[in-house]
Amino acid sequence: MMSNDLPQLPGLKGTRIVLGVCGGIAAYKSAELVRLLTKQGCAVQVVMTPSATQFIAPLTFQALSGRAVAVSQWPEGQADRGMPHIDISRACDHLLIAPCTANSLAKYVHGIADNLLDNLVLARNCPVAIVPAMNVEMWNNPATQRNVEQARRDGLQVFGPAHGEQACGEVGQGRMLEPWEIVWELAKARSTQTLTGQHVVVSAGPTFEAIDPVRGITNRSSGKMGYAIAQAAWLAGAKVTLVSGPTALATPYGVQRVNVQGARDMHSAVLGLVPQAQAYVGVAAVADYGILNPSTHKQKKSDASPTGLNMEFTLNPDILAEVGQWATEHSPRFKVIGFAAETQNLADYAQQKLVRKKAHAIVANFAQEVLGADEATLQIYRTDLPPVTIERKPKLEAALDLIHHLFSHP
Ligand SMILES: Cc1cc2nc3c(=O)[nH]c(=O)nc-3n(C[C@H](O)[C@H](O)[C@H](O)COP(=O)(O)O)c2cc1C
Repeated sequence: MMSNDLPQLPGLKGTRIVLGVCGGIAAYKSAELVRLLTKQGCAVQVVMTPSATQFIAPLTFQALSGRAVAVSQWPEGQADRGMPHIDISRACDHLLIAPCTANSLAKYVHGIADNLLDNLVLARNCPVAIVPAMNVEMWNNPATQRNVEQARRDGLQVFGPAHGEQACGEVGQGRMLEPWEIVWELAKARSTQTLTGQHVVVSAGPTFEAIDPVRGITNRSSGKMGYAIAQAAWLAGAKVTLVSGPTALATPYGVQRVNVQGARDMHSAVLGLVPQAQAYVGVAAVADYGILNPSTHKQKKSDASPTGLNMEFTLNPDILAEVGQWATEHSPRFKVIGFAAETQNLADYAQQKLVRKKAHAIVANFAQEVLGADEATLQIYRTDLPPVTIERKPKLEAALDLIHHLFSHP
């Protein structure tokens, strides 16, 4: 997924971000970060350490954020500023520090405040997230490791760092996350963490039932809804494994993806994963029938009889029903959630499916409205509560509403 692909992320529009930039080589990437945050509708105030101005000119950030950049902690020449560190921190919903140097990290955990940004960290009354960026040896240094652990214990959010090639030419842990990854991490940090500590398995997309090595039977599911559910579960704090049929979609950020083709592959992948998970959301459009004995070679027109090609079908396993049965027998607290795309009688079919599959909830929608679309209306049927409708909205927003509805009511 590239930065240009970022959709509107939840919890960012209208948010006042103070972006602290420290003196690291990755400071140039923070210019892109300002652009992405501004595109999300955030108001961005950049604050630089004096060292950071050695790496990138404040003018770049001023032009991108539309605001004068603050560097000095002394209010000289700023008649409207009594105490910059208090004024700026009180007009801030989230303090984001990217890049965060080893030096600044050490100062935050010890309460040292000898520049404006340090003072802001100390005087803040909002969440703070740091995005470390440094040479691998600086990162692995016991002092830095002690400091980052202490920072976590103090409630600082730590995004990254990543492993990879570094500006100095060495390879290892310490690379700053890419700007678009930082935006996802920030959206997660600002989302309600309904699923912390839980592992959620999601199946999505169509299945592909092979006829021969080049042909097969599939359906019109795009995978968009299942991918949105996987992304929403990650935003809500879950570890997410997405078992996906063939789609053209990018893997959701933070989600582990397992690719499958036919319904039988999907069945074994899902059944293999659920014993280590706490919930299963079956969004995939799974073929009810597969081809019995698919050909190992491409079939020729001349192979068919004069009246056409004869194929024998075989019933595929019912993944949702099997997970429902497994949960009933082995793990009654495990949540089983199924989707139903119907063209008519939505409520009747969903209620019947709820009982038949032993599911905790069935989420129904009209196939003709939802297949391939970017928005969805969701009707939630549960065994324990009356039906609820999530009105038509972008699939990621609908997915987040669904996750919070399903997992915040036990
Ligand atoms: C070319 C150059 C690149 C540097 N890159 C980094 C870096 O990526 N991460 C880091 O922690 N320190 C880096 N440093 C060291 C910091 O700039 C130095 O510790 C400085 O005091 C940090 O100040 P600050 O934390 O107030 O911004 C670099 C120094 C130089 C000269």
